[in-house]
Amino acid sequence: MTTLPPRVTIMEVGPRDGLQNETAVIPTALKIDFVNRLTAAGHQAIEVSAFVSPKWVPQMGDAAAVFKGIRQEPGVRYSALVPNCAGLDRALSAGVREIAIFAAASETFSRKNLNQGIDESFALYRQVTDAALQAGRRVRAYLSTSFGCPFEGPVDPKRVIDLADRLLQLGTYEVAVSDTIGIAHPGQVSRLLDALIPRVALPHLALHFHDTRGTALANVLAALGHGVTSFDSSAGGLGGCPYAPGATGNLATEDLLYMLNGLGVETGVSLDAVVRASTAIEGAIGHPMPSRYVRALPN
Ligand code: HMG
Ligand code: MG
Repeated sequence: MTTLPPRVTIMEVGPRDGLQNETAVIPTALKIDFVNRLTAAGHQAIEVSAFVSPKWVPQMGDAAAVFKGIRQEPGVRYSALVPNCAGLDRALSAGVREIAIFAAASETFSRKNLNQGIDESFALYRQVTDAALQAGRRVRAYLSTSFGCPFEGPVDPKRVIDLADRLLQLGTYEVAVSDTIGIAHPGQVSRLLDALIPRVALPHLALHFHDTRGTALANVLAALGHGVTSFDSSAGGLGGCPYAPGATGNLATEDLLYMLNGLGVETGVSLDAVVRASTAIEGAIGHPMPSRYVRALPN
């Protein structure tokens, strides 16, 4: 078998990507408990919420209150999505130390998700990133629809590579190349990485898979073979983007951990503790967790 990296970092996006798409109103106290449990599970990076317009994503409207309530362990990174300067101001007031900007590789999705074209969003993100860096914050970036767009279909890999590079040029420390609608398969991942890694060095590259077609774990395995060491996943497999029709949950953290543990790839995260975190919030969500690992557990 190909040599795999001995250790990878997981960005736990359950409290943000997981909860943003849920229709039930999740009480702030439960979100806080969810984040605290994910910290207790040993996560080193947790995306806690999003300072986006509450008119666009009401579920994230309590971002400041969630940040105020969580227990922040030293050495753990707690981040939030920020779409514009108003969002950055809110994030800074809430004491957030790491933000994430999110651009798209397809024009139509950019307009649906941000009400802006790609170039317009980059102009704004330059201001947001400059101000965040000046304030001593770290900035991560997402590049949505990197493997396909729900409106435009296939996306040219050259465009993905150029935009990923542009996001890093803004001063972000890492770009999460994202499969917003869960359409990627390992062949496509492998081909994109062959072309991408010469331009976006491995320490600056993360992958963000949704599991709509059941290929997310296979995609991670393909990416591990290329030396990628940073992956996003969501406790319980919750998730989806309200502006990406047909997209279902993110790759489940439990499923990812089960595979990585089996491969002997270290994460520092306890699988049992993540299960406890996602099952603690299941009642409020009102439907079973999509994670296959969780569903296979005896009742
Ligand atoms: P807009 O309507 O063009 O902006 O939205 P606007 O400036 O006209 O503002 C509209 C209203 O929202 C105004 O309020 C603003 O003050 C307010 P009003 O005057 O009508 O009372 N507003 C805000 N309030 C609080 N915080 C803010 C903020 N900004 C404006 N930051 C905008 C443009 C970018 C704001 C909007 O499109 C937006 O918030 N979009 C975010 C959508 C979103 O969160 N999508 C899901 C996350 S992305 C994702 O899931 C993909 C990812 O997981 C990777 C992947 O899988 O691909 C990351
Ligand atoms: Mg996502």
